[in-house]
Amino acid sequence: MAYEHILVEIESPIATITLNRPKVLNALSPALIGELTSELSRIETDDSVVAVVLTGGPKVFAAGADIGDMADQGPVDQLLRDQTGRWAPLAGFRKPLIAAVNGYALGGGCEVVLMCDMVIAGDSARFGQPEINLGIIPGAGGTQRWPRTAGKYVAMEAMLTGAPITAQRAYEVGLVNKVVPSEMTVEVARRLARQVAAKPPLAVRMAKEAVLKSFETPLTEGLAAERKSFYFLFATEDQKEGMHAFLEKRKGNFKGR
Ligand code: CAA
Repeated sequence: MAYEHILVEIESPIATITLNRPKVLNALSPALIGELTSELSRIETDDSVVAVVLTGGPKVFAAGADIGDMADQGPVDQLLRDQTGRWAPLAGFRKPLIAAVNGYALGGGCEVVLMCDMVIAGDSARFGQPEINLGIIPGAGGTQRWPRTAGKYVAMEAMLTGAPITAQRAYEVGLVNKVVPSEMTVEVARRLARQVAAKPPLAVRMAKEAVLKSFETPLTEGLAAERKSFYFLFATEDQKEGMHAFLEKRKGNFKGR
């Protein structure tokens, strides 16, 4: 599939998607969002891809929604376009999604990072929600996912001042998994993706689902959902293989069944 605003490299079992509008710092136009979410939807049913790395390349992740495109819009235009709602295929993506962030991840760019499952940050990475400077607030989940990830006070400061935080600060507040030299970001994210891709895929899928559920539900409901998935996994061939491989002191050979 030929795309204009993203690059896709498939090296089974992982795919790397690179946002590719460098002239405008990968600003997230409706066309880019369309291409990215279409590719993610395609990957959902592509058995050769087990985990995905999402990056903006060596210099910038994404400087947010395309301001030029939004500046003269009214609420009805926004509602009809439902640009922020169009991120649903990314937020609901079932395979592991790892962000590899260099440079700015601002506004919608930061919100995309917050929709990913793990984040590798280059030491040049900067995370922020500068919408307040434009007279708006984040619209793709920033006000909800920042506090759930980094806590109320860090989130408030980010939303109310618009000031970005460094990669190191993002690591300290739990917004990223690891900070690495910028030239290593994508490679480290790929390594992590390959590590996850070697695990039994159904267990990976259910583990992701269960962790994400903790953002949505009270504890008792989350525990009940976890328990159901835990019991269900005993119906899989990979559970039998994983446990017998352990007992026989060999490496498990998982099939995703
Ligand atoms: N939309 C459209 N164009 C953008 C852009 C954006 N979000 N961010 C940068 N650009 C463009 C600039 O206009 C500029 O284009 P020209 O060369 O044609 O002038 C080019 O990218 C390079 O940008 P700068 O010259 O500004 O680069 P810089 O290094 O001096 O500054 C920056 C970098 C601090 C990221 C600055 O570009 C900036 O503040 N960008 C806007 C960030 C922002 O406010 N993001 C939030 C958008 S709203 C949103 O995302 C809503 C939501 O929740 C969904």
